[in-house]
Amino acid sequence: MENLKVTLSEKDIPYSWYNLPPDLPFRLPPPMNPATHKPLEKDALRAIFPLGLIEQEVSQEKWIDIPGEIRDMYRLWRPTPLRRAKRLEEYLKTKSRIYYKDESVSPTGSHKTNTALAQAYYNKKEGIKRLVTETGAGQWGSALSFACNVFSLKCRVYMVKVSFHQKPFRKSLMHIWGAEVIPSPSELTESGKHILKEDPHCQGSLGIAISEAVEDAVKNKDTNYSLGSVLNHVLLHQTIIGLEVKKQLKLAGESPDYLIGCVGGGSNFGGFALPFVKDKLKREALKMIAVEPAACPSLTKGLYEYDFGDTACLTPLLKMFTLGHNFIPPGIHAGGLRYHGCSPLVSALVKNKIIQAVAYQQIEVFKAAVIFAKTEGIVPAPETAHALKAAIDIAKREKKAKCIVLNFSGHGLLDLSAYDKFLAGELKNYAYPKHEIKRALKDLAKL
Ligand SMILES: Cc1ncc(COP(=O)(O)O)c(C=O)c1O
Repeated sequence: MENLKVTLSEKDIPYSWYNLPPDLPFRLPPPMNPATHKPLEKDALRAIFPLGLIEQEVSQEKWIDIPGEIRDMYRLWRPTPLRRAKRLEEYLKTKSRIYYKDESVSPTGSHKTNTALAQAYYNKKEGIKRLVTETGAGQWGSALSFACNVFSLKCRVYMVKVSFHQKPFRKSLMHIWGAEVIPSPSELTESGKHILKEDPHCQGSLGIAISEAVEDAVKNKDTNYSLGSVLNHVLLHQTIIGLEVKKQLKLAGESPDYLIGCVGGGSNFGGFALPFVKDKLKREALKMIAVEPAACPSLTKGLYEYDFGDTACLTPLLKMFTLGHNFIPPGIHAGGLRYHGCSPLVSALVKNKIIQAVAYQQIEVFKAAVIFAKTEGIVPAPETAHALKAAIDIAKREKKAKCIVLNFSGHGLLDLSAYDKFLAGELKNYAYPKHEIKRALKDLAKL
C-alpha cells in the first residue's frame, strides 16, 4: 500500500533559509527611493525595519542560518507533512499523482507563522518593543500576534475593514494572543482619515492598511513595521516550505511536473517554489504555476512597472506586476489575495517566463474547495483553494500520469461564513474591474 503522508523528523527541519537572488541568471531591479528615483539606500529602511531583516532583504548569500531560537519554535509544528491526495485523484479519475504540502498545521493555521516568528525574533533582538502590521483575512495578523506573544512584544494589527466584518474569529485569535485589532481605514492615522474623508464607506484594502501601519511605525520610536508578504526577506523565511518539499519528494521517489501555489503578495508560492527555480532552469518541462483571483489579477493583467507597495505612497518603489496602488479590489472572500501588486521576486520570475500565472473567479474556486473538503477532509482557506482549483484543472486536462504538487497554504476553519454563503448560492463573481484598474494605473510613478 502506498503511503498517504511523507513525514520528516524534527532533525530534518532545515538549518538555513535559501536566498534565490544570487542564483538568478538576471539581476533583480532594486527598490527605488520615491523622492530621488535612485536605488534605495539601506539606511532608508531603518525607520521601520530592524537591521537583521534589512540585511536579509539585500543579501547576496545563498544560504542564511536560521537562528536556534526560531528553529526551536518551528519544532512546534514543523516539518509539515507532504500529503498525497489519493481520494481526490480517485474522484477526478486522473492518472496523475497529486501531493499537497500541508502548511495548515501551523499553530495559527497557515504558512504565515514561518516568517512571523522570524520577524518578531529579529525585532526583539534589536530592542524593539512593539510591532504594527496590516492584515487581510486575518491569517497574517494572527500569525504576527502569536509571534509577538512568543517574544513578548506588543502588537497592533490594522485589519482590512471588509475582512474585519467577514472574519470575526480571526480577530478573536489575535485578541487571545494579546494584540490590538483596528478596522482599516481608521481615524487613528492621517492616511486612514484621508481615505475616510474621500469615501466614508470605504471597505479598505491591503494597500491602505499597509499605509496605516507604516505611518504608525514611523511615528513611534519603539515601534517597527512588519510585512506579511511581498519583500525578499519574507519569501526567504518561507523557503523552509520548499526545502522540506524537496526532501519529501526525494523520499517519495518523485520528481515534480507541476508546482502550484496561490498568490497574494507572493510569499507562500515563493517560499514553496523558489528552491526549485534552479531545477526549472535545467528542466523546461517543470511547470511552476502562480494562481490569483480574477478580481485582483496583478500577474495576468497588471503592468510590470515601479509602484508603491501601499496606497498612501509611504513605501519605496518596487518593480513588480501591479494594478496600481490606488486600486481597491472587490471584496472577494480570499482576503489575503486582495493586493494590488506582487513580490518583486515572483514578478521578475513571471516576467522572465520561469513562472506562469493563471486567474480564477471565486465561485469556481469555492467549488474546488468543497470537492477537496469532501474527498480529503480538510477545509481549505479560500486563498489556498485557488491553488486547488488549478491543480484540479491540470489533473483533469493531463492525459498522462504527472506529479502535481501544490502548496496548501492554510485551512479555512475560520472562513466558514464564506462557505455558508457559497452553499446558499449567495457568492458572486466579480467581472475583471477594467475601468478601476485603468484609472489606478494612471497614477504609476514615471521612472
Ligand atoms: C492561507 C493564505 N494563503 C495565501 C495567502 C496569500 O499571501 P501570500 O501570497 O503572501 O502567500 C494568504 C494571505 O493572507 C493566506 O492567508
